[in-house]
Amino acid sequence: MKKISSICCIGAGYVGGPTMSVIAKKCPHIKVTVVDINQKRIDAWNDDNLDNLPIYEPGLKEIVAETRGVNLFFSTKVDESIAEAEMVFISVNTPTKTFGKGKGQAADLKYVELCARNIAKVAKTDKIVVEKSTLPVRTAQAIKNILDNTGNEGVNFEILSNPEFLAEGTAIQDLLHADRVLIGGEESPSGQKAKDLLSEIYQNWLPKDRILQTNVWSSELSKLVANAFLAQRISSINSMSALCEATNANIAEVSRAIGMDSRIGSKFLNASVGFGGSCFQKDILNLVYISKSYGLQEVSDYWEQVIIMNDYQKRRFADNIISTLYNTVSGKKIVLYGWAFKKDTNDTRESAAIYIADALLNEQAEVVVYDPKVPEEKIYADLDALNTRSEEENRKNLTVVKNPLEASKNAHAVAILTEWDEFKTYDWKEIYQQMIKPAFIFDGRRILDKQELQGIGFKMYSIGEMD
Ligand code: NAD
Ligand code: UGA
Repeated sequence: MKKISSICCIGAGYVGGPTMSVIAKKCPHIKVTVVDINQKRIDAWNDDNLDNLPIYEPGLKEIVAETRGVNLFFSTKVDESIAEAEMVFISVNTPTKTFGKGKGQAADLKYVELCARNIAKVAKTDKIVVEKSTLPVRTAQAIKNILDNTGNEGVNFEILSNPEFLAEGTAIQDLLHADRVLIGGEESPSGQKAKDLLSEIYQNWLPKDRILQTNVWSSELSKLVANAFLAQRISSINSMSALCEATNANIAEVSRAIGMDSRIGSKFLNASVGFGGSCFQKDILNLVYISKSYGLQEVSDYWEQVIIMNDYQKRRFADNIISTLYNTVSGKKIVLYGWAFKKDTNDTRESAAIYIADALLNEQAEVVVYDPKVPEEKIYADLDALNTRSEEENRKNLTVVKNPLEASKNAHAVAILTEWDEFKTYDWKEIYQQMIKPAFIFDGRRILDKQELQGIGFKMYSIGEMD
């Protein structure tokens, strides 16, 4: 069986960029071209200064430095790259629909469909088309229909589902040491051949027994289910954080106690201000929509509760700041440490910080934001996108600062919204001294030492623990 020697990946985002960089590094015999219609993004991937790559991920720039221009290429020549490749990955965004049928829940598949139509149009030789984007179960059928009905005569397409399980902030490690790789394909001789060709690529660095082959539908669905189960754990522990605050139990102790049961496991039990990120909410809403559309109302309601609980947690955190500050934050300076949805990424999609800031601005607080990796324009763009108030008002009432310590001057409260490691290293004594007293800290990530900070004089709230 002839091995794959050229790959095209459509979509140079958080998944396409890191995934293809790792494939290029581990498979020097494969030419990997990542294409995108966004010229600015491609220019950033090609920037000589590797600190300007469009995505921040620990370990990414080193791999790009090693492979770019050797067997890894970033380009806007979408048609040319598809035509050249033997295997085409679709790694474009699949956001929640904002209009029409399924608005607010179903996945918007227009970008995926455009890719399929584009592949059909330009392919002159057989292609293996790989769904890397997260898609509703049975999307492969739609892609196949488009390819078979609009593709050039005599060209054969094999569709595989190969969902990505990397988490942002640890993408490179997740890719290099994946727990498993899932490959779904048709159970026909040509389907099996395609699955084996893709398996072979991953076998360049992963043991064979971690590569799982299934039918297409199981693979598509497993991705949604994995995200739903992960998010469900966070909502479960967050629901208990509220109960802990009411009963004087401590959520960290509860997490530890239940996590030591090997049937439950210790991971993903950190109570927080709420999960963010581009995928958990979108994928669960998608699952909710799919279940409902198959008439499974109880299944749909069950999973929707994970989102309801997450919204509650974000609201609860903001309400707690307001009620603790004597039920009024109007004109009070509140510093938000962290805007990214988790540490070690510059991604802010669905970050809890956006909603906390919005709630505080609604109460006319003076909000100051510091994040080590998120640029000022991104923070304003996130707020503007909520359409709660005018762009002018957002800029007038929220300030973005580059100096974290200065931010706290004359502040009434500080809220930790992202678990960046650097927050633990701050001189909290100095911060305390320059704040208005009583000085409050609201730790939405439980990363600071409560006893130590109380010793300094802070009034301290750690999520999931009574004040
Ligand atoms: P992203 O928005 O960062 O990147 C998608 C890219 O696709 C964009 O740069 C966009 O310009 C490009 N694009 C869209 N349509 C195109 C077209 N027709 N031709 C060429 N380029 C096109 O998205 P992402 O975070 O990389 O996510 C991509 C998919 O992977 C989604 O389905 C997501 O659910 C899934 N996923 C994401 C993560 C994650 O951590 N971000 C993890 C696993 C799976
Ligand atoms: C998640 C999954 O972990 C990946 O496997 C999946 O590929 C990806 O979604 C996707 O499909 O996009 P990601 O969203 O990048 O990855 O990051 P996570 O580490 O899962 O964190 C998500 C959110 O949950 C963050 O806001 C994080 O702070 C929060 N979280 C996580 C908690 O509040 N508590 C925890 O115990 C763990």
